[in-house]
Amino acid sequence: MNFPPEFLDEIRNRISVSNVVSKRVKLIKRGREYVGLSPFSNEKSPSFTVNDDKGFYHCFSTNEHGDIFTFLMKTQNLSFPEAVERLAEDAGMEMPRSDPREVAVVERAVKLREAVEAGCMFFQAALQKPEGKRALDYLHGRGLGDDIIQKYRLGFAPSGNVLKAELKRRGFAEDVLLETRLISEGKEGRDSFDFFRDRVMFPILDLRGRPVAFGGRVMGEGEPKYLNSPETPLFHKGGLLYGLSLARPVINDKNQVIVCEGYMDVIALAQAGFNNAVAPLGTALTETQLEMLWKLVPEPIMCFDGDKAGQRAAARSAGLALPRLLPGKSLQFALLPSGQDPDDLVRRSGPDAMMQILGQAVPLSEIIWRQLLADHQTDTPERRAGFERAAYERINVVADQTVRDQYRNVFRDRLREMFQPQFKPNRAGGYQAGRKPGWSPGRAGGLGGRNPFRDQGQGAIGTVRPRRALENDTIQERILLATLINHPNILGHVEDRLGAMNLADSRLDSLRQSALMHLAHQPDLDSQTLKAHLAGLGFAHDLESLLGEDTYVHAAFARPTAEPVKATEGWDNTFGWYQRSGLEAELNQLKESLAINPTEEIIAQINTIAEQLNQHTHE
Ligand code: UTP
Ligand code: MN
Repeated sequence: MNFPPEFLDEIRNRISVSNVVSKRVKLIKRGREYVGLSPFSNEKSPSFTVNDDKGFYHCFSTNEHGDIFTFLMKTQNLSFPEAVERLAEDAGMEMPRSDPREVAVVERAVKLREAVEAGCMFFQAALQKPEGKRALDYLHGRGLGDDIIQKYRLGFAPSGNVLKAELKRRGFAEDVLLETRLISEGKEGRDSFDFFRDRVMFPILDLRGRPVAFGGRVMGEGEPKYLNSPETPLFHKGGLLYGLSLARPVINDKNQVIVCEGYMDVIALAQAGFNNAVAPLGTALTETQLEMLWKLVPEPIMCFDGDKAGQRAAARSAGLALPRLLPGKSLQFALLPSGQDPDDLVRRSGPDAMMQILGQAVPLSEIIWRQLLADHQTDTPERRAGFERAAYERINVVADQTVRDQYRNVFRDRLREMFQPQFKPNRAGGYQAGRKPGWSPGRAGGLGGRNPFRDQGQGAIGTVRPRRALENDTIQERILLATLINHPNILGHVEDRLGAMNLADSRLDSLRQSALMHLAHQPDLDSQTLKAHLAGLGFAHDLESLLGEDTYVHAAFARPTAEPVKATEGWDNTFGWYQRSGLEAELNQLKESLAINPTEEIIAQINTIAEQLNQHTHE
C-alpha cells in the first residue's frame, strides 16, 4: 500500500536510526555519529556509521545506505510494509491501513506544526515592534544580545487577541489554533482568546528544531511567573529538553551537556559561551529525559542552585539515576552557591566562575554518600550500624551488577575509613594516629578530599625550613583561615594580610582563595552561608577538618561562638607569630647558607631579617 509521506516522516521523527540499529549492532559514539561493526559484512574494524541528525546509516565496506525502514528490511528480511508496521508500533502510531482517519491524524499534525511555527514568527516579529519594546528592553536588561534572542527565537505576546486575529487572517482554522493551545476556549459561550498575553515568549523546539510549544514569562512580578503550553499532540513535556536542538552540535563536540533548571539558565549560559546547556520543562527530570541525556553523553552534569529546592532537585535526579546506572554511565553534580542559579552566577561572577564550578562537579556516588551522611547520626554503635545498613540498602537499588559491586566496594572502604582508627606512617618514619573514631564523618567522605595534615610539608615553600617551625606555621595558617570562615565580619580587618599569604597546604590555600573571592563579591555573607558556598565548591571535607577541635584547641577565639573582638585580637596575635616564625625560619636557613658559603649578600640579608624580627618583638 501507499503510506502517506507525513506518516513515514512522523515515524522517523519519533524513532532515531541509532535506536533501531543499536538493537542489532553495538554502536559507539564518535562526534556527531555512531560507529559500529557492519551487519552487512564480517568485519573486524568498524566501518558502519549512523547519523541521527541526517536520519540515515552508511556502511563504508559494502556501501549499503538507508534509513530505519531499509535497515529492518535488510537485516530482518522484512518487506517495506512489514518494516513500517513494526516501527509504527514502536513509535506508538497506528497504521493507516485502509483507515483514512490515521492519515487525517498525520495531516492534522502537519497543520498544527504550521500553526505553531506561524505563532512563533508572530511573537518574534512583535518583539521588534513598538508594542514589544518593553519586552525587548526586559531581555536586554537580563543581559541577552540580539544574536541570542534571534537564535532562541524569543518573542513577545501582546495583550488582547492579536495572535488569534492574525493567524485566522492567514487561514488557520479556529479548531487548529485551539488544539495547539495557542488560543483557549471561551467560557459560557464567550469567544476564544489568546492563551499568552503580555508575556516574553520562549518557544520550545522539538528535536528537529521546530517550535511545538511555548513558555511565556511575565515581565516583573505576577503569577504564574512562567505560563507554559499544556500538552498537545505535538508537545509532551516529559519527553523533550529545552534547548536541545540548538545545543546538540556543541554537546556532541564537547561530549558534555549541562542540565540546569530553567529557560533563562539555558539562554544565559549560551550568552556566556556555554552552548551545551539544556533544561527539563518546569518539572523534575523524567526517565525519558534521563535516557535522552545518556544517549548524548556518558556523564551529564546536573547544575542546580545551592539552595534547598536545588538540593532537592539534585536528590531527585540522583534517585532517578541510581537504579538505572550502567558501566560508564552516571551523572555529575555541579553545585552552585546558595540562592544563585546559573543565570545569576554568570551574570554576577562571569563565565570563569561558572567554569570553576563545572570543574568542581562531584560524581553521583559522592552525592549519594552525602545524602546518607546528612540523614544519619553516627555517634553510637547502633547508629553507625543503622548508617551502614542504610548505605548498603541504598546501593541495592542499582540494577546493574557490575556497577552495584563497585558502589559496594567504594562504600565499604569509606565506612571502614570512617569507623576505624588508622595508623599510617608519617614522614618522620614514626606513626601518627589518623582520625579518632566517633566523630563527624569528616574525612571519611573524601573521594578526592585530602586531609591537610597528611599533606604536611609536601610541596610547601618551606621544605628546607626546620620541621618544627613548619608544623607551627601550618597550625597558625589553619587558625587564621578558620577564624575568618567562622567570623566573616572581620574580613575588612584581615583581607590584605590574608590575601598576601600563601598557605603551605595547597588545598587550604585554594580554600583561602575561594573564601576571599566569595567574601569580596558578597561581603555581608554570614558564616553559615559562606560555609555552604565553600562546601558547594567541593571544600566540604576540608572545612570539616579545618573547623574542628584540632584547630580550636590551639585557639579558642577561632571558634564560631567566640566574641568578635576576641576573634580580631586573636587573629592579629596569631598573624604576628606566623610572620615571626616565617622570618625565624628564613633566618635559620640563611645562617646555614652562611656556614657553607659566606657572602656579603647573605650577611646583608641576615641583618635585614634580624632587624625585622627585632621590630616584631617591640611592636
Ligand atoms: P525558577 O522559578 O527557578 O525561574 O523556575 P528561573 O528559571 O530562575 O527564571 P527567571 O530567572 O526568574 O526568569 C525554573 C523553571 O521552572 C519552570 C520554568 O521552566 C522555569 O524555567 N517554572 C517556574 C514554570 O514552569 N512556571 C513557573 O511559574 C515558575
Ligand atoms: Mn533565574
